Amino acid sequence: MSSETSAIGHGLDPERMPGHIAMIMDGNGRWARKRMLNRVKGHEKGADVVREMVRTCRRLGISVLTLFAFSTENWGRPKAEVGALMFLLRKFLMSEEAELIRNNIRFNTIGQTEHLPEDIRQTIDLVKDRTRSNDGMTLNLALSYGAREEIVRMARQIALESKAGLLSPDAVTEETVEGRLYTRGMRDPDLLIRTSGEMRISNFLLWQIAYAELFFTQTLWPDFTEAELIQILKDFQRRERRFGRVN
Ligand code: IPE
Ligand code: IPE
Ligand code: MG
Repeated sequence: MSSETSAIGHGLDPERMPGHIAMIMDGNGRWARKRMLNRVKGHEKGADVVREMVRTCRRLGISVLTLFAFSTENWGRPKAEVGALMFLLRKFLMSEEAELIRNNIRFNTIGQTEHLPEDIRQTIDLVKDRTRSNDGMTLNLALSYGAREEIVRMARQIALESKAGLLSPDAVTEETVEGRLYTRGMRDPDLLIRTSGEMRISNFLLWQIAYAELFFTQTLWPDFTEAELIQILKDFQRRERRFGRVN
């Protein structure tokens, strides 16, 4: 079934699908707590939802899916929880590689991957390499990602190029900035979804979401479903995006 048929099948207009969806996957800990379980159980269930969302977005013909999996601030969590998240990431990369290849999905990461454990970095490079020429969808995993770190990194790079005489300050444009972010070459998110009821951005894609449509749902990430995503997409299609202009 083509992605167009799939969208129509769900009552969506294939012409008005968001090209790039970003998700802040929040609420794993609360999901576990409600069940008197360890927070890690919430992350495990959350990883299953990640798999389902990747599949659904691919089927609906989304070009880029960016998932906030681990923030620069999340390093401050207890060591055992960080360790469990790294374990799940390792497991996800190994188990999903074949599925990504089968579904023509290109794997990419944004963030300070240099801070991740060595074996995970190697697996990431391998999966990126093996999916490099896939063009069905890009799955962008935000790992040790923080928007402020990304912006500082970009500024530092511009300063270095300028000092080396490669870039004149007058020549700095929005494109210069975009080209030095982790998301270079990707379209900006059209739609940002955050689960768990928190109404904040938590240092995610600050530059890129300038004109994204924002959706906040009370649903905790482990309970998030394809059906709810489709409802959000229907709502998205009813919104009028004006980009500061009049229609
Ligand atoms: C999101 O769930 C997953 C990560 C941040 C890694 P949380 O772990 O933040 O869950 P809550 O917010 O404590 O419920
Ligand atoms: C944002 O969730 C980061 C991820 C989903 C990976 P957090 O749970 O870390 O955000 P805060 O602390 O509630 O703002
Ligand atoms: Mg949280």
